[in-house]
Amino acid sequence: MDRKRENFGSRLAVIMAMAGSAIGLGNIWRFPYMAGQYGGAAFIIVYVICSVFLALPIFLSESIIGRATQKSTFGAFRQLAPGTRWSSLGLLTVITPVIILSYYSVVGGWSIEYLIKSISDGFHSGSITDAASEFSQFSSSTGGPVLCHTVFLMGCAIVILGGVKKGIEKFSNITMPVLFMLMLMIMIYSIFLPGAGEGISYMLKPDFSKLTPTAVAAAMGQAFFSLSLGVGTILTYSSYVQKKEDIFVSGLGTAGFDLLFALIAGFAIMPAVFAAGLEPGAGPGLIFETLPYIFAQMSDVSPVISSIIAVIFFISITVAALSSAISMFEVGVAYLVEEHRVSRRKATLAIFSFAWILGIACSLSFGILGEFRISGMTIFSFCDTLTSNFLMTFGGLLFTVFVGWKMDSAIVRREFTNNGTLKFNSRIYPAVRFLVRYVAPIVIVTVFVTNLFL
Ligand code: PFF
Repeated sequence: MDRKRENFGSRLAVIMAMAGSAIGLGNIWRFPYMAGQYGGAAFIIVYVICSVFLALPIFLSESIIGRATQKSTFGAFRQLAPGTRWSSLGLLTVITPVIILSYYSVVGGWSIEYLIKSISDGFHSGSITDAASEFSQFSSSTGGPVLCHTVFLMGCAIVILGGVKKGIEKFSNITMPVLFMLMLMIMIYSIFLPGAGEGISYMLKPDFSKLTPTAVAAAMGQAFFSLSLGVGTILTYSSYVQKKEDIFVSGLGTAGFDLLFALIAGFAIMPAVFAAGLEPGAGPGLIFETLPYIFAQMSDVSPVISSIIAVIFFISITVAALSSAISMFEVGVAYLVEEHRVSRRKATLAIFSFAWILGIACSLSFGILGEFRISGMTIFSFCDTLTSNFLMTFGGLLFTVFVGWKMDSAIVRREFTNNGTLKFNSRIYPAVRFLVRYVAPIVIVTVFVTNLFL
């Protein structure tokens, strides 16, 4: 029995859904912080180069496999390379996003808690240390974070149950434009704060002395994470793209929106951080410690504006995280539905249960499971390091090597050029093929090895 496969309704819907996957926590806290740490505009230039010459070829490789087969990761490899080990490698790309989903959902849960806080009694931290200890008290507790993680994951499951068109497409079509508007509003507010200039130059001043090999590796890692590459999400979403669509345009559109959003987030956050006389911190600290302190400071001047901005900000983070998490969820669900012939409902329940349990372990690793270490790391850090530093890069390598060297080149050309009907794509095809065959795999291996030694 072959179930009828759903498709995204239009080109815009494809770009919105893929942008939904791409735009997430990676854009809001990772990018601004990295840009500042690794030389501002200098980092941004390297990041853009990585996006075009590395991330885009991987994106296109995933798109080509997904759209050619109209299958999820495992089935796609089985169809294109029957009887080989490729399908078991495809299985790896089913597991990676579910691991990411588990810890990502914990952070998504924190943003729900902070959203509720900003709606109810607001932020009143006396000092930045108070804000930090408030956050660490919350994240290391047991019940609250687990409950928020559960709510976040349930939110994803509800959208997933709606299916591709009525769930994912509808959700991203509504939320993505709203998200842009909200972030843009915060950016405009932020850059006009007194003292914001230093934050703007923090982002814009190119400091080439900070462009170390670590910085270049970080730019590549960020391009991977931000565009959700190497984990099969783009492959799975591409399998829902109609044959008449231009996958190059969807790739460019998604990468463009993702970059634009990262820049907007950077110019929304950094000027406010500097206006408050603070140094930008890394990771969760930036969102859950520095910003609440800034909101508290702002509320001394104008409580109404401060709470409106805080609510808008935490809604944005929660929505951005949700649409990314949904794409990770869908990879596993598509695999179970197509390969194991279970209903969408049962598949959703299975992925939910796995991510819920692993997510609880990740959450508790900030508190009662803090002493439990794997290779010296807490469960949360281990899952994060394993996926971001190794599995995603490995997945990216896998996709480019497969498309560049294993897959029938006639199929690759046909998918990229829509059977030769897309003239521009036909013209750039040799260059894209070169990037996929040589440039991307060599760069990935080089950075992977560099990461191992760093
Ligand atoms: N691209 C997302 C972000 O920037 O937050 C993260 C992500 C989404 C990673 C989906 C992996 C994935 F499969």
